[in-house]
Amino acid sequence: MVTGADFGAPRRPAFPAEPPTKPVSHATEPQPVTASPGAPLRGALRPPGDKSISHRAMILGLLSIGETRIEGLLEGDDVLSTASAARQLGASMERLGDGRWVVRGVGIGGMSDPAETLDFGNAGTGSRLMMGVVGGQPVTATFDGDASLRKRPMRRILDPLLKMGTEIVGEAEGGRVPLTLRGPSEAIPITYETPVASAQIKSAVLFAGLNAPGVTTVIETAATRDHTERMLRLFGAEVVVTPHGPEGHGRAIALTGQPTLRGTGVVVPADPSSAAFPLVAALIVPGSEVTIEGVMMNPLRIGLITTLIEMGGDIERLNEREEGGETVADLRVRASRLKGVGVPAERAPAMIDEYPVLAVAAAFAEGTTRMNGLHELRVKESDRLAAVADGLGANGIDYAIEGDDLIVHGNGSAPRGGGTVATHLDHRIAMSFLVLGLASQHPVSVDDGAMIATSFPSFTLSMRALGATISG
Ligand code: S3P
Repeated sequence: MVTGADFGAPRRPAFPAEPPTKPVSHATEPQPVTASPGAPLRGALRPPGDKSISHRAMILGLLSIGETRIEGLLEGDDVLSTASAARQLGASMERLGDGRWVVRGVGIGGMSDPAETLDFGNAGTGSRLMMGVVGGQPVTATFDGDASLRKRPMRRILDPLLKMGTEIVGEAEGGRVPLTLRGPSEAIPITYETPVASAQIKSAVLFAGLNAPGVTTVIETAATRDHTERMLRLFGAEVVVTPHGPEGHGRAIALTGQPTLRGTGVVVPADPSSAAFPLVAALIVPGSEVTIEGVMMNPLRIGLITTLIEMGGDIERLNEREEGGETVADLRVRASRLKGVGVPAERAPAMIDEYPVLAVAAAFAEGTTRMNGLHELRVKESDRLAAVADGLGANGIDYAIEGDDLIVHGNGSAPRGGGTVATHLDHRIAMSFLVLGLASQHPVSVDDGAMIATSFPSFTLSMRALGATISG
């Protein structure tokens, strides 16, 4: 396994024992990166810790009494922004070694007003979850971020928080950061049906509900990643989850407010959303055989693996075991002839971040892959539907967008490549098109790989260790 930041200057200094409180810098030079076709990929790699669980570990550490000891934390820029915010709100923390942290929290109701703006950089998850935390407690804080975060919709988080007693005391046009929230002395418990399938909305409401005298219930008509529910229980909260809706696809999640959360141990498994890149690379680079170790197999996160197996991908789940309350497995992946498939809209919550790299896999498949119901992709770190379409077009790949569906036509051979892809400050667009360049006829460049550090700081080093040619 290879760790550590690789190409280019990091957005902030390598992480010292004393975590940073300074806002991230948003104005670094773009870092172009190029991936070229080459030898088969061989060997093993362990992707970094899961981003969703890492954010939540920091937040629950802040809201607990006592020590939270974290192992395997993703030390990417997004999570470090959440760590900084938790510190500004009163937590103290120490980095003991690679991915090993101890957080000392202040408990529910114990936070103090931060002296400076909470700068979340590129991190949608960190900012939205922390809006729930601040929105439910007697504290006032200003949220901000980079040019990507400033474009992302926050209304979806603010709407339920307003019902819970949060005040918006300052806001940019149309529910975007920068914005300032002031929470009540006690939140109002509500029952809230999320208008879109979003674990971020669900989590923000539940975090606000921690300071409500009564039961806060979130209803989701399609189940989304359940890390918040699982981790709230781990820290001592009472959370009851019941099936919801006619076919039981949805869930009602009921949290009893004002628990005492106690610090605990958190082991962060490897992120399936980061595993997606070496996984697809190994499938499309001829002759490859790669083992991806310790990948979290939470059923609400592995829609991509299901889809790639349906496409004919040779993916074996080995050594299934428990890690940090989740099932993990080593994935043995061999280069495969893929065929086009239809991907049902209902699968989207279980693979919402994986469509860009699935589109790359689809470009190598024989036949048409139709990915249905991708409207949420328009409000990620970039308009991912547009960014993927532009990237496919720039590399000679035949595609269409019909409404919210993305259709990719492959002919079972390597696409032309040779294009330069605009990443729009989006780490997953950058990594997806670098994966394309490892197997297309000509190298593929991305205009800026700097954002890769938000979720997978060791990406280029890890891929090079498997034999990939990536320069930048
Ligand atoms: C996340 C939820 C998803 C996902 C994001 C992480 C989370 O967002 O895209 O990368 O950790 O809760 P939505 O809830 O907006 O779908």
